[in-house]
Amino acid sequence: MNNVYIETYGCQMNQADSGIVGKVLQDNGYNLVFSGDDADVILINTCAVRDNAEKRIHNRVHDLQALKKKNPLLKIGIIGCMAERLQDSLIKEDKVDVVCGPDSYRKIHELIQQSSAIDVELSNEETYEDIIPTQLNTDGISAFVSIMRGCENFCTYCVVPYTRGRERSRSPKSIIEEVKKLFDDGYRDITLLGQNVNSYIYNEEGMDVRFADLLIRVAQINPLLRVRFATSHPKDLSEDLVDAIASYHNICKYIHLPVQSGSDVMLKKMNRKYTIEEYLKKIDLIRSRIPDCAISTDVIAGFCSETIEDHKQTLEVFRKVGYDSAFMFKYSDRPGTVAHKRFVDDIEEVEKIRRLQEIIDLQRDLSLESNKKDIGKTFEVLVEGESKRDATKLFGRTSQNKVVIFEREDNKQGDYINVKIEDCTSATLFGKKIK
Ligand code: 5AD
Ligand code: SF4
Repeated sequence: MNNVYIETYGCQMNQADSGIVGKVLQDNGYNLVFSGDDADVILINTCAVRDNAEKRIHNRVHDLQALKKKNPLLKIGIIGCMAERLQDSLIKEDKVDVVCGPDSYRKIHELIQQSSAIDVELSNEETYEDIIPTQLNTDGISAFVSIMRGCENFCTYCVVPYTRGRERSRSPKSIIEEVKKLFDDGYRDITLLGQNVNSYIYNEEGMDVRFADLLIRVAQINPLLRVRFATSHPKDLSEDLVDAIASYHNICKYIHLPVQSGSDVMLKKMNRKYTIEEYLKKIDLIRSRIPDCAISTDVIAGFCSETIEDHKQTLEVFRKVGYDSAFMFKYSDRPGTVAHKRFVDDIEEVEKIRRLQEIIDLQRDLSLESNKKDIGKTFEVLVEGESKRDATKLFGRTSQNKVVIFEREDNKQGDYINVKIEDCTSATLFGKKIK
């Protein structure tokens, strides 16, 4: 009864959290296995941000119930944001055995031992800072380190403040210790994670440590360690942070700055707390101090009462910024959110899909444009592994977070090499190593 398989869906934060759950379980005598077939317990760590993600999980649980016919002792658990949102309905309707919210992972082993166990209590303090997560599904080079939990921004469309609770930051000391250990274990690319890393704040012996300070401390661990972070809320992106990125070679020249919409009317309705003019000023700040910085975004198509004009403004902002990449979604109404209570989800599904597709098509062109500009330039690339399509080639990433494919030669994972870009698609750069 000791083999646990943890399946992770959704955001990077969930990847990091699964590592915490894995460590708690290992410390309590469980083995982690990497397939549901060998498992006595299957835990699904999943996301509640959009309805289609949840639907997929209901189906997945339904399929997994079939495994119980072969192994009646098998336990199935849902953990994370979806557990927090749906609580005991997962036991009643989906017949899962364990429901564990994002702040209850220390008790996961106790819950597994009970029948129909649920713990979805949220905490104002829990940061799991003393737990060094087990790296699951790892490539041995890149790792996520959670630096804070929760969100208090209450964007009206978003369920996260309800599923992950109050914002709280983890101590710099525990973060540095975790990153040092990862570096010693061979990891070279670390992403510091929080819903809004720019509001990181920790009082250390009477002094406030803010995100820019933390980032610098992590970068100073070793110049061979690349440091990234996600996600930044535009309203809190500070000059200090931009200067920190500009000053350290190993802080990656890549900022994910979700815009969500190009329309001030929509932004107000979304409670984003910035206008497009303010957003574009932040973009100018980044570009003026870090000319080679890549910028990506999140966007939502078809939010409540979005007009064609609002949508065109979103396309316009995409053109103005010229994002290097983007995560694009159609609006999904989430019970419990302010938008669900106060606004009408009135854009027809086909129209949401059409608008989303228009953004996707534009972004494909912008990504291609951005990649074409790299042709002829030389980038420092961290070698990550073998190209999936061609074993004679390796792949790595630039500081700007772009994937580059090049000849294997005598390079290995973890090497830094200079690659001159010769060709590209909208998704990938192709280049040659420069001696
Ligand atoms: N519908 C669609 N997309 C959403 N996001 C958050 N909530 C919703 C929703 N209800 C998107 C936002 C956020 C990203 C993580 O998910 O763009 O930045
Ligand atoms: Fe959701 Fe907004 Fe918080 Fe991001 S910042 S998790 S979109 S409420």
